[in-house]
Amino acid sequence: MDFYKEFESKIIEVNKSLEKYIEEKECPQSTIYKAMNYSLSAGGKRIRPVMMLACSELVGGDTSSVMPFACALEMIHTYSLINDDLPCMDNDDLRRGKPTNHKVFGEAMAVLAGDALLNCAFETMLKNAEVSPNMTLAAMSEIAAASGTEGMIGGQVIDIESEGKTIDAVTLMTMHLHKTAALIMAASRVGALLGGGSREDLSSMEEFARYLGIAFQIKDDILDVTGNEETLGKKTGVDGLLEKSTFISIYGMEQSQNLLNDYTNKAIEVLSRYGEKAEFLIELSKFLLSREN
Ligand code: IPE
Ligand code: IPE
Ligand code: MG
Ligand code: MG
Ligand code: MG
Repeated sequence: MDFYKEFESKIIEVNKSLEKYIEEKECPQSTIYKAMNYSLSAGGKRIRPVMMLACSELVGGDTSSVMPFACALEMIHTYSLINDDLPCMDNDDLRRGKPTNHKVFGEAMAVLAGDALLNCAFETMLKNAEVSPNMTLAAMSEIAAASGTEGMIGGQVIDIESEGKTIDAVTLMTMHLHKTAALIMAASRVGALLGGGSREDLSSMEEFARYLGIAFQIKDDILDVTGNEETLGKKTGVDGLLEKSTFISIYGMEQSQNLLNDYTNKAIEVLSRYGEKAEFLIELSKFLLSREN
C-alpha cells in the first residue's frame, strides 16, 4: 500500500463531498457561504474525516455511507478553529496558511460562519445519510456529544480558564482529551459503527483514538514552539504569549517528545490486533508523529 497515495485520494474524496454539501449561491446572505467555504477550503489536513473513512474500511465498511458524517465532522472541526482564532479566544491571525476568518470577514461574520458550519454539519447528516435511521441517530449522537460541553467545547473551556495558571497533570490530560481527542475518538468510533463493526471493534477504535488524540495535541503543543510558521500555516509562539497550559509548559520539551512517542506507540499497539488490515491507520499514526504542520 502506498500510504501517501491512499491518503491523498481520501482527501480528494472528502473535498469533493464538502464542495457538494456547501454550495455558494447568489442570495442576500451569500456572504455566509463565502465565509464558511473560505475556512473550509483553506487546506486542512482532513485527519478526522480520513480517519472515519479508514476506521470504517478497517471493519469492512464502504466510503459512501460514511461521507456525510465524515464531512460533518470536518465542518465542526473547522468551526472550532474559526472560534479558537477569534480575538476573544486565541486571537490568531493566520490559519491554514491564510488570514483567519475574522481578519477577512470581520468578527461578526466569523462568529456566524462558525455557527453556520455547526448547523450545516447536522443538516448534512440529516439530509444525506444513507444508513438506517437508528444508525444515523447513533452516529449523530456520538458526534454531538464529542463536540459539546463533555467534548471539544468542554476542553476549550478548560483551556481558556487555564491561561496564566499552572494546572496539574490530571487537568492537562482532561483538557487535551476533551478539546482534541474527543473529535478524533468520534471519528474512529463513528467510522467503526457505520462500517458495521462489533462492540469490540468500537472499543478498540476508541482506545486507539484516545491515545492518538492525546498524541495529536502534544504534537500541536510542540509545533507551537518548534514549528515553522510557513510550513505550519499558523502563527507559532501563541501558547507562550497567552500563557497557555500545554504539555510543554507542564512537562518541558524533552519529556513532551517522549510522551508523544509513548502515546503514538500505544495507539499503534492497539491496532496490532487487526494485523495487515490496519496498515493505513498505522502509517497515519506515524505520519502524525513526524508531521511538520
Ligand atoms: C488543529 O487541528 C487544532 C487542534 C485540535 C490541535 P489540525 O492540526 O487538524 O488542523 P487542520 O485541520 O489541519 O487545519
Ligand atoms: C485548539 O487548540 C483545539 C480546538 C478545539 C480548536 P489550539 O488552540 O492549540 O489549536 P491551534 O494551535 O490554534 O490550532
Ligand atoms: Mg486554543
Ligand atoms: Mg489556538
Ligand atoms: Mg495549538
